[in-house]
Amino acid sequence: MNNNSSHGLSIAFLCFIFLACHLGSCQLDYRFYDRTCPNLTRIVRFGVWSAILNETRMAASLLRLHFHDCIANGCDGSVLLDDTSTMKGEKNAPPNLNSARGFQVIDTIKTNVENACPATVSCADILTLVAREAVFLTGGPYWSLPLGRRDSLTSNSSDNQHIPSPFEPLENITAKFTSKGLDMNDMVVLSGGHTIGFAQCFTFKQRLFDFDGTGKPDPTIDASLLANLQSTCPNQDNSNTNLAPLDHVTPSKFDNMYFKNLVNNSGVLGSDQALMEDNTTASIVIGYSTLPLLFFSEFGASMAKLASVGVITGQEGEIRKDCKVVN
Ligand code: HEM
Ligand SMILES: *[C@@H]1O[C@H](CO)[C@@H](O)[C@H](O)[C@H]1NC(C)=O
Ligand SMILES: *[C@@H]1O[C@H](CO)[C@@H](O)[C@H](O)[C@H]1NC(C)=O
Ligand SMILES: *[C@@H]1O[C@H](CO)[C@@H](O)[C@H](O)[C@H]1NC(C)=O
Ligand SMILES: *[C@@H]1O[C@H](CO)[C@@H](O)[C@H](O)[C@H]1NC(C)=O
Ligand SMILES: *[C@@H]1O[C@H](CO)[C@@H](O)[C@H](O)[C@H]1NC(C)=O
Ligand SMILES: *[C@@H]1O[C@H](CO)[C@@H](O)[C@H](O)[C@H]1NC(C)=O
Repeated sequence: MNNNSSHGLSIAFLCFIFLACHLGSCQLDYRFYDRTCPNLTRIVRFGVWSAILNETRMAASLLRLHFHDCIANGCDGSVLLDDTSTMKGEKNAPPNLNSARGFQVIDTIKTNVENACPATVSCADILTLVAREAVFLTGGPYWSLPLGRRDSLTSNSSDNQHIPSPFEPLENITAKFTSKGLDMNDMVVLSGGHTIGFAQCFTFKQRLFDFDGTGKPDPTIDASLLANLQSTCPNQDNSNTNLAPLDHVTPSKFDNMYFKNLVNNSGVLGSDQALMEDNTTASIVIGYSTLPLLFFSEFGASMAKLASVGVITGQEGEIRKDCKVVN
C-alpha cells in the first residue's frame, strides 16, 4: 500500500472514530451495524426462534443469561467465557454453575453471524439482541437497542456477587440494582422477567416446609400453589434440582401474569413475593398487574437501560471470534 492511500485510510478511520466517540469516550449507536452487518437482527431472530421451537424454556434461559452478563461487571459477554487454567470466570461460579443455560444457542447464532459478517459483531451485542428476541417471540414487548458493545478480555468469578440471590432481603437486592444505576422501578419491572422460565426447588424450598424455623410453610404462600410446589419439591434433598415454573399460570407466555400472581400470594421465590411486603414496590406491582401495556413499555425501557450497564466500546476489549474464548 502506498503512502497516500494509507493516509486516506487513516483519515477515514479517524472520522469514523470521531462520529461515534467524543473526547475518547465512545457511545452505543442505533445504526452501529447498519452497513457492516445489515442482516444481524434477522440472523439473531432466526436463531432464537429455532431454539425456542426446539425447547420453549430456552427463551427464559437466554433472557436470564443477558441479565447475569450485565449485572456482573457490565454487558461485556464475560458470562460466556469458559474458565481457563489461569482464569476462573462467571460461567462456572455460583449462581450460574448448574443453572445458567443457553450457551450453545449463543454459539450457534455467533457462527451464523460470523459467516455473514466476519469479525464484526461482538458476543455482548449478540446476547443483548438475543434477549430482546426471546421476550418478543414469547409474546412480550420489543424495544430499540443501541449497539457497539465490545467483548471483555477476561471474566472474574467474584463479579457474580453482584447477581441478586433469592435468599437475601429486598433491601439487599435493591442495593444491587441501584449500584448499577438501576432504580427501584427498574428492579420491579425487570423482575417481571420471571413471567417465563423455571426455578430449581432449592431456590425456594425453604418456604415450603420449615419457613424461618417455624416448622410450618411460609404463611404468605397461596394454599393451592403451596400444595403444588410441595408435590414438585418433596422435603428431601433429592428434589433440589426439580423444576417449577416461576409463573405457574402462563409459564411460557411473556405477559403480566407474574405481577397478578404476586398480588395473589402466588410468587414462587421468596424474593419475588417480598415485592408485596414493601408499600412502594407493592404499589408498582399492583400497577403492572392491572396495566399490561404499561408493564410492556416500561420493561422495554428498563431492558435497554440494563443493556447499557458497564458496556465497553470503541477500542476497548475486542470482537471475540468464538464467544467462549478470548481471541
Ligand atoms: C430481582 C432479583 C432476582 C432474583 C433474586 C432472581 C433469582 C432467580 C432464580 C433463583 C432463578 C432460578 C434459577 C435456578 O433455579 O437455577 C431465576 C430464574 C430466572 N430469572 Fe431471575 N432473578 C432476579 C431477577 C431477574 C431479572 C431482572 C431477570 C430478567 C430480566 C430474570 C430472569 C430470569 C428468568 C427468565 C429465569 C428462568 C430461567 C430458566 O428457566 O432457565 N431474573 N431467577
Ligand atoms: C440478507 O439476507 C437476505 C435473505 O436471506 C439475503 O438475500 C441477502 O443477500 C442478505 N444480505 C446480506 C448483505 O448478507
Ligand atoms: C433441543 O432441546 C433439547 C432439550 O430439550 C436439547 O438437549 C438439544 O440439544 C436441543 N437441540 C438443539 C439443536 O438445540
Ligand atoms: C476478581 O475480582 C476480585 C474482587 O473484585 C479482585 O479482588 C480480584 O483481584 C479479581 N481477580 C482477578 C484475577 O482479576
Ligand atoms: C444484606 O446486606 C448487608 C449489608 O451489606 C449484609 O451485611 C447482609 O449479610 C446481607 N444479607 C444477606 C442475607 O445477604
Ligand atoms: C387471584 O385470586 C382470586 C381469588 O382467589 C381469583 O379469583 C383470581 O382469579 C386470581 N387471579 C389470577 C390472575 O390468578
Ligand atoms: C404500608 O401500607 C399499610 C397498609 O396500607 C399501612 O398500614 C402502613 O402504615 C404502610 N407502611 C408504610 C411504611 O408506609
